[in-house]
Amino acid sequence: MFTINRRDFGSDFTFGVATAAYQIEGGQLDGRGSSIWDTFSATPGNVKNGDTGADACNHYELWPQDLDLIRDGGFDAYRFSIAWPRLLPEGTGAVNQAGIDFYDRLIDGMLERGLKPYATLYHWDLPSALQDRGGWMNRDIANWFGDYATLVGEKFGDRLAATATINEPWCVAFLSHFLGIHAPGYRDLRAAARAMHHVLFAHGTAIDALRATGTKNLGIVLNLEKSEPASDSEADKSACNFGDALFNRWYLGGVLKGQYPAELTEWLAPYLPENYEADMAVVSRPLDWLGINYYTRGLYKASNDPRRPVEQVAGDLEKTDIGWEIYPKGLSDLLVRVATEYTKIPLYVTENGMAEVEGEDDPRRVRYYDDHLKAVLAAREAGADVRGYFAWSLLDNYEWAEGYNKRFGLVHVDYQTQERTPKASYRSFQGMLHNTR
Ligand code: FCB
Repeated sequence: MFTINRRDFGSDFTFGVATAAYQIEGGQLDGRGSSIWDTFSATPGNVKNGDTGADACNHYELWPQDLDLIRDGGFDAYRFSIAWPRLLPEGTGAVNQAGIDFYDRLIDGMLERGLKPYATLYHWDLPSALQDRGGWMNRDIANWFGDYATLVGEKFGDRLAATATINEPWCVAFLSHFLGIHAPGYRDLRAAARAMHHVLFAHGTAIDALRATGTKNLGIVLNLEKSEPASDSEADKSACNFGDALFNRWYLGGVLKGQYPAELTEWLAPYLPENYEADMAVVSRPLDWLGINYYTRGLYKASNDPRRPVEQVAGDLEKTDIGWEIYPKGLSDLLVRVATEYTKIPLYVTENGMAEVEGEDDPRRVRYYDDHLKAVLAAREAGADVRGYFAWSLLDNYEWAEGYNKRFGLVHVDYQTQERTPKASYRSFQGMLHNTR
């Protein structure tokens, strides 16, 4: 059980759980178009065990029981993502009515259960037809994404409590176009530089599009890490500074100040889109809130690897089942940093959680959540305006390049039978949220 108490957060603090479409829905059923994760995962060698999201948790059919779990856990909100290729199978043009109907049912299902819908427009499942046209490397993606945002705003906007454009632009751009670990699996500096800018230009374009439909409470979700040098050496400190620019400041600075870090615009100068500066007003459109996904710290040392500008090393803190260090203080530090250096808009922890070995008894996860929730309280006391917290994730699910082997759920999923079984961590949230309502 948790040691923290819901009352410590005040009555309007929002507690929720988060998921993403490709990781749970399953299926190119009912007209959903192909996405880059369908083809990336079908390509041998990209994903552990050759796992794909073809079935995942079959949330597409089992969503009523999943929403019941969220309600019964005592949560206020559900952060879910909309699959672009389910609404627009080719990415642009013809609308798939079955897709609209699915999200209609899902959103109404949340409202019927008293859950606030927090939607994310893009959690990595780009329609393959748009990848064929260059995907995030092509500037036109801003218009494609803007049109998709208009559709979402028109169909669902009035029922959404909050809407985010992009989940984790660093992953969309750098992880997927420079490190080659996520779809589309590029390893190319020009591709990465273009994606780094276009993903934020598309974000700003979508903010304008959503606002034009009257959709309220708009934001973006950034994955941030606490960057620290592996030693006190000047070389490691400067690697840390570069890593921080690449991971954190490109996105914080771009979105909240209309400015990219100078060391990166210098490094990427030959590859960035021409005249990108003219887009910065769109990149930095005013937002209503900022979402932060936090998992761990980044520990940097000067790189000996010519393929990487900086190198990350494993630290000596306790690690989760995916090898990430457990570091709650990093969450407080980050929230305070964002509130002090970047913005006064409300902050939400839109993802936080840990991978643990399979099982329903997960005491380390209970402690992880308790400690990170304390870190949120500490940040609030230090002046950060944090309004909500979403656990990643409701269910064990498809963990991208790691496949089904890494389990982040509050609820265990048996992938043979699709049976859901709440874990001790789910019960801990339930205890805290119900006892103090
Ligand atoms: C985040 C992703 C989410 C999930 C967690 C573990 O980077 O947004 O989909 O995979 O990591």
